[in-house]
Amino acid sequence: MSVQSVLEQRRSVRHFDSNYTIQPETLTSLIASASKSPNGNNIQATRYLIIDDPDLRSALLPIAYNQQQVMDASALIVMLGDYRAFEADNIINIHEEGFQSGYFDASLRDYLANAAIQYYANKSDEELTLELTRDVSLASMSFILLANEAGFETITMSGYDSAQLKASLNISDRYLDVMLIALGKGTKNGHQTVRHPVHQIMYRNTMTHL
Ligand SMILES: Cc1cc2nc3c(=O)[nH]c(=O)nc-3n(C[C@H](O)[C@H](O)[C@H](O)COP(=O)(O)O)c2cc1C
Repeated sequence: MSVQSVLEQRRSVRHFDSNYTIQPETLTSLIASASKSPNGNNIQATRYLIIDDPDLRSALLPIAYNQQQVMDASALIVMLGDYRAFEADNIINIHEEGFQSGYFDASLRDYLANAAIQYYANKSDEELTLELTRDVSLASMSFILLANEAGFETITMSGYDSAQLKASLNISDRYLDVMLIALGKGTKNGHQTVRHPVHQIMYRNTMTHL
């Protein structure tokens, strides 16, 4: 199926077959492909926390304002960004790996690694949070498209209490929780949704509405 077809057919689905089990290798394969998404300086900050423990799912239900998909989805994933990905060690290691794989020479390795280290060095916490949000969001969208292509339905969720979710899953401040993604076999179609016509959202050279 083309990317365009997947996008045209995708809906947010909120009702899943709770008896359907997703194969662990299917999930692994979706995540491996999603990890190919573009990400700033290739620091690879996105983390996928899969919640398959029924007790944890039950604990998350009220935290996610009783959204039943938290219980019924075949997979529930907390999409996280790792602030430690900005550290020089990580950046150096990733570029060394690229060098060892023969993807670039030593001078490009050093240039890219140093440029990335400098890029993050003076950023505020707010700016780093935005960097993580960008990277995790791109990986999330890739994951959603891949899941739909593989015959699953998905829902993205920010409707949960972040502090309570982090506490109940023991997620430290090292990580930014960006969103939840639930996927599985839908039992009820997602409702149709409208979109603005393109002429309302597309501009050229300048924003005409100040
Ligand atoms: C970041 C984000 C958070 C969302 N959070 C929720 C949520 O907590 N609960 C929910 O039912 N839908 C949630 N949605 C789904 C949106 O409501 C949905 O994408 C939108 O209404 C458009 O519908 P569609 O996805 O079917 O095209 C979220 C979507 C996004 C992108």
